[in-house]
Amino acid sequence: MPVSGQTVCVTGAGGFLASWMVKLLLERGYTVKGTVRNPDDPKNAHLKELEGAKERLILCKADLLDYESLKEAINGCDGVFHTASPVTDDPEQMVEPAVNGTKYVINAAAEAKVRRVVFTSSIGAVYMDPNRGPDVVVDESCWSDLEFCKNTKNWYCYGKAVAEQAAWEVSKEKGVDLVVVNPVLVLGTMLQATVNASIVHILKYLTGSAKTYANSVQAYVHVKDVALAHILVFETPSASGRYLCAESVLHRGEVVEILAKFFPEYPVPLKCSDEKNPRAQPYKFSNQKLKDLGLEFTPVKQCLYDTVKSLQEKGVLQVPTQKKDSIHIQS
Ligand SMILES: NC(=O)c1ccc[n+]([C@@H]2O[C@H](COP(=O)([O-])OP(=O)(O)OC[C@H]3O[C@@H](n4cnc5c(N)ncnc54)[C@H](OP(=O)(O)O)[C@@H]3O)[C@@H](O)[C@H]2O)c1
Repeated sequence: MPVSGQTVCVTGAGGFLASWMVKLLLERGYTVKGTVRNPDDPKNAHLKELEGAKERLILCKADLLDYESLKEAINGCDGVFHTASPVTDDPEQMVEPAVNGTKYVINAAAEAKVRRVVFTSSIGAVYMDPNRGPDVVVDESCWSDLEFCKNTKNWYCYGKAVAEQAAWEVSKEKGVDLVVVNPVLVLGTMLQATVNASIVHILKYLTGSAKTYANSVQAYVHVKDVALAHILVFETPSASGRYLCAESVLHRGEVVEILAKFFPEYPVPLKCSDEKNPRAQPYKFSNQKLKDLGLEFTPVKQCLYDTVKSLQEKGVLQVPTQKKDSIHIQS
């Protein structure tokens, strides 16, 4: 295998997306140094079960606000995938670890002379711009308006945008080869046992906790595709700049319709909370850069299906038992 003998660091290895990156990297023959805050926490146990983990996965204890711990994890690596970040709209918890943690990672990567750093940014660093016209195609040239993020208290988007800016600045200053992936909302199969924020976005429509759906749109992508996108941009020498990672934009009405069709056994809300305003329209975007690298995106219906199946398999969602009548009809 061309990659055997290469060691890469994945920060926040136990998270939803990073777990998939660790899985795919191990399958490709890499040795992976995965940073976690607590290697003994049962929530990271799934990593040790991955194929190749026993031989080639090293879990390193590191916190984003502890430079020395990051330096130790990154030392001796050929590449770094910086994926760890808080995912919250609490400004106190979000901004400092996202921004300073990113600066630390790039500095440690420069010291270790790694070949390339791939940073997981977000659509939140791209599309929060109130002045963008409806016909503008959202692509890698777009940046979120920081004042707008602050004024609307979108601290997650603010933190990710400032962290990505810092990543570009420090990389330039230190001569680090940086490539950035900007995923939209990530869905799909969970490898980890705990439910992360983007999965809650769907879970609430299945548990009965959401009685209506919002009059808004959202772009989605499959977790496996996002993990693969990171590896593709790492392995392709000519890859550069930012890569928008999105499959399609749906109105919430379309999301609940798909969920209700696949899973009629759950109380999926079919009423919009806003009956006054016109239906929000999807924005246009381009995922051409990743397609040009050979990425084939999983259709959004499959993303939704895999998410619910995964929630069932993890025991988060009960699988309703079949009614006696329906068993009778089928037999
Ligand atoms: N999921 C999405 O829809 C989506 C979309 C666009 C971009 N992203 C980006 O993708 C990345 C992964 O997100 P995810 O959805 O996989 O979320 P996740 O499951 O919550 O994973 C986040 C990871 O970051 C770690 N982390 C948080 N704060 C840390 C700190 N101070 N020090 C060290 N590690 C820390 C967490 O560790 P603990 O387990 O110890 O808390 C966890 O492993 C993030 O950068 C996120 O911004 C996600």
